[in-house]
Amino acid sequence: MIGRCIVGLAALAIAICANAADGSIFVQRCAVCHLESATGSPGFVPPLTDTLGYYVAADGGRAYLVRVVSYGLTGPITVAGVAYDATMALYAPLSDQQAADALNYVLTQFNTKSLPAQFKPFTAGEVHGARQEKVSAIELHAARQALIDELARAGKHR
Ligand code: HEC
Repeated sequence: MIGRCIVGLAALAIAICANAADGSIFVQRCAVCHLESATGSPGFVPPLTDTLGYYVAADGGRAYLVRVVSYGLTGPITVAGVAYDATMALYAPLSDQQAADALNYVLTQFNTKSLPAQFKPFTAGEVHGARQEKVSAIELHAARQALIDELARAGKHR
């Protein structure tokens, strides 16, 4: 990524850097489990590659993503046909801006196929708003299932 920004015409490089979502939080705080490629480990840690864009289009899907990176997630889930029954725990909270950066990065880098064309990046303000309602990792698991059911009813696969 950094290499891509350094190489090439200066004007072009500035344009690429300005548009690229900041991946440093993802690398520091998410990649330890989900890997830098966001491909996860089958059966242990789910991938975040073209499995998340569909949430963005669902009612409550953006808030769900904010809450996962705020409160973690626990309980049995199926992602891309593979079963997981693990716990995501965040050992130190992310600031509103860091959570927005991590989500924008993972969505724009690894979910381009599933992301709605009119995707608007998360802002610290949106993250702050979605964090006003505190939920446990178990409650979030139920909310996730409700989202999946809604997507299935709408005929959207994930
Ligand atoms: C300690 C390891 C760990 C860390 C750190 C971690 N995750 Fe997770 N993540 C998991 C596990 C394990 C699950 C699945 C939990 C389950 O089985 O219920 C998960 C689930 C998720 C999901 C739900 C996927 C879906 O299909 O609904 C998202 C989104 C996610 N993580 C994003 C992130 C982001 C972004 C970060 C960094 C801010 C992060 N995770 C940090 C382990 C981790």
